[in-house]
Amino acid sequence: MLLAVAFVAGGCCKKPHSFEVKDGSFLYDGEKVQLICGEMHYPRIPVEYWRDRMQRAKAMGLNTISAYVFWAVHEPQPGEFNFEGQADIARFVEIAAEEGLFVLLRPGPYVCAEFDFGGYPYWLQKDSTMKWRSDNPAFLAACERYLNALGKELAPHTVTNGGNIIMVQVENEYGSYSDDKVYLGKLAEMIKNAGFNVPLMTCDGSGQMPYGYIPGILPTVNGAVGEDIMTSIDRFYPGGPYFVAEFYPAWFDVWGLPHSAVDYKQPAEQLDWMLKNGVSVSIYMFHGGTNFHYTNGANTNNGSYEPQPTSYDYDAPLGEYGNAYPKYHAFREVIQRNLPEGMTLPPVPADNPTTTFAEVELTEWAPLSTAFGDRVKSERTMTMEDMNQDYGYIHYETVIPAPVSGKLVIDELRDYAVVLLNGEVVGSLDRRFRKDALQLDVREPNSVLEILVENGGRVNYGKDLVNNLKGITKRVTLAGEELKGWTITSLPLHRADVTKFVFPRLRHEGNQPGFCRGTFEIEKVGDTFIDMTGWGKGAVWVNGKSLGKFWGIGPQQTMYLPAPWLKKGKNEIVVFEMESTGKRTLCGVDKPILNKLGPDKNSFKVAREYNRVPVLDEFDGVFKGKAAKKSGWQEFKFDGTKTLRHLCIDIQSSYGGNSSAICEVELLDEGGNVINKRKWNIVHTNTESAIEGIAENMIDGKEGTAWRSAAGEAKDMPHQVIIDLGNIRTVSAFRIYMNDAEKKNGIKEFRLYGRPQFFLYE
Ligand code: GLA
Repeated sequence: MLLAVAFVAGGCCKKPHSFEVKDGSFLYDGEKVQLICGEMHYPRIPVEYWRDRMQRAKAMGLNTISAYVFWAVHEPQPGEFNFEGQADIARFVEIAAEEGLFVLLRPGPYVCAEFDFGGYPYWLQKDSTMKWRSDNPAFLAACERYLNALGKELAPHTVTNGGNIIMVQVENEYGSYSDDKVYLGKLAEMIKNAGFNVPLMTCDGSGQMPYGYIPGILPTVNGAVGEDIMTSIDRFYPGGPYFVAEFYPAWFDVWGLPHSAVDYKQPAEQLDWMLKNGVSVSIYMFHGGTNFHYTNGANTNNGSYEPQPTSYDYDAPLGEYGNAYPKYHAFREVIQRNLPEGMTLPPVPADNPTTTFAEVELTEWAPLSTAFGDRVKSERTMTMEDMNQDYGYIHYETVIPAPVSGKLVIDELRDYAVVLLNGEVVGSLDRRFRKDALQLDVREPNSVLEILVENGGRVNYGKDLVNNLKGITKRVTLAGEELKGWTITSLPLHRADVTKFVFPRLRHEGNQPGFCRGTFEIEKVGDTFIDMTGWGKGAVWVNGKSLGKFWGIGPQQTMYLPAPWLKKGKNEIVVFEMESTGKRTLCGVDKPILNKLGPDKNSFKVAREYNRVPVLDEFDGVFKGKAAKKSGWQEFKFDGTKTLRHLCIDIQSSYGGNSSAICEVELLDEGGNVINKRKWNIVHTNTESAIEGIAENMIDGKEGTAWRSAAGEAKDMPHQVIIDLGNIRTVSAFRIYMNDAEKKNGIKEFRLYGRPQFFLYE
């Protein structure tokens, strides 16, 4: 088996090669090849670093780069194509060739990838006849135009044409969305017709493969490990080749939730198994990079909204700035171990230099109106899409003629709003917590109401892909009446040349949205990280380059500033503050801070802090026991009664390994009666699944909901939840309820600690 590929760049006279899916193998020029592949996304890596990251991929032992193509990047407006600079995907593929790497191309058109709208351009939503991801003529016509444009750029780079693109993926995990095989078949034809004369493949999670595979085209499996890989693929393509198109050694982050980090040990063992068993694999992500500008996506979960941060570090083997985590070295060792005798990997390139800069104060200030261009008058609110706007912010303004008091409600806010009355901030609204209303007291006639709305990232996965309009998407009411007569202003700030803004004020003490500007000095150019800890919410530009959005809630607190965007000497920084805390100083540090949650004022969980560790003293021990793996109620009687206000459930092991769940808990008083939970409150947990599996679910009186430990995070035991009972109570027993669906993750050994006051934290 050809493990490290003998692929050599074509140079001037490109010689055709062949890549085949045959007899259970991948064959390159007739020789068996095992793909050791890793995913990287060209818009998420500064173009100046494409080669650097490829060299680090090669040194870890990869022979192939897997890359999504992001339609929105290449066709920002209908029919207007861009393949230049950061969007020069042909150059990305060529650099891979020059570094001796194959490319597995994944052009979607839907890609998911935690990218705004799963990679789709915003304007698809302007055509109400379009139904994406389906056999719909308007949608397929748009797909065809894009795929043909892409074909012109990339078809010359297929192996068959002497390049390094070995395979092309059709759609992405389509089986997780629908089962329209006619659509999939048409898409496959389009890809071929666009000039991609190499084998095609699909990828799906194992359970979704029946809906997502296309007869005759190689199905690959995402997320499977061990024997499951073979059994999954054999159902549709007996004998393989076996390819895990997405192997997850880590996971992405969500604003406001703890940083996702996965130890390398288990993924390294899984990778070893695959390599030993002839399985081809692609590491998702090998190197995640950064969502510069506003390109992050979001997930929804039963009405909740979970936007992803700017950093797409992913805890991947190669970190956000090309830094090798221990996982990189562990994987490299595994790959080296599996290479044919005598073959060695190239040395790991030295780390890129980092630099710092001392604290500076951004004194100059300009109001939001500095960025106002054309303003549109409209009786009713319009969406970003109505305004032909893709990303960024949108500003709505109206005059309220007479004094009125009542609830201001934004019907379908997408996604975050700061509300101002007569130039003063009166509050913010936040889709993450379904917070769409605030009390407004308008005392003056002809008061000016302003609503500044941020597009937090379009949903990139699941059924809400079709609900992706941004801004105020329905209406605004005040005391039950719809507000009309709006002036609407697009603020797609990523394109505005912020360096040309005029900053009229030398200092500003208020908290209104606006821009701050300052300069900092760099002695020696290197990668640096701007520490935004303590700032509110907004976006940053250095020397006119967008570093993306920041948000004090974390877990990301620093903004990656790549060395090629810096100059020796003076550099200009502009910060847009959608929401200000009044902080005006920042500095450049030499390491990112990606795991620090900050205050999240809109959260219903403000009191909860993930990073705290309660001190659980034996002295406070209330009970130690083991629950059975069964549904229904289980009761645990204490030895006598206990007096407590705060109860900590400390779970030592669970039937679900590292995943645990509890549907409902109850406590009995000294007479054996169930204690009313009305005053109960969750004050701490070290793990929970956002919104759907929050710890509140175990005290909500509903047997159908559950607290679940964080998905994809695999938090080590113990899992802990602390409940405040509201009053000091005398307690004689603890009860838990598990329903049929959750019992597989039911808790096993657990301890209860109780205190008549608060727990202390380390
Ligand atoms: C899926 C998708 C990817 C990405 C991962 C999670 O598997 O195919 O695009 O969204 O989930 O990172």
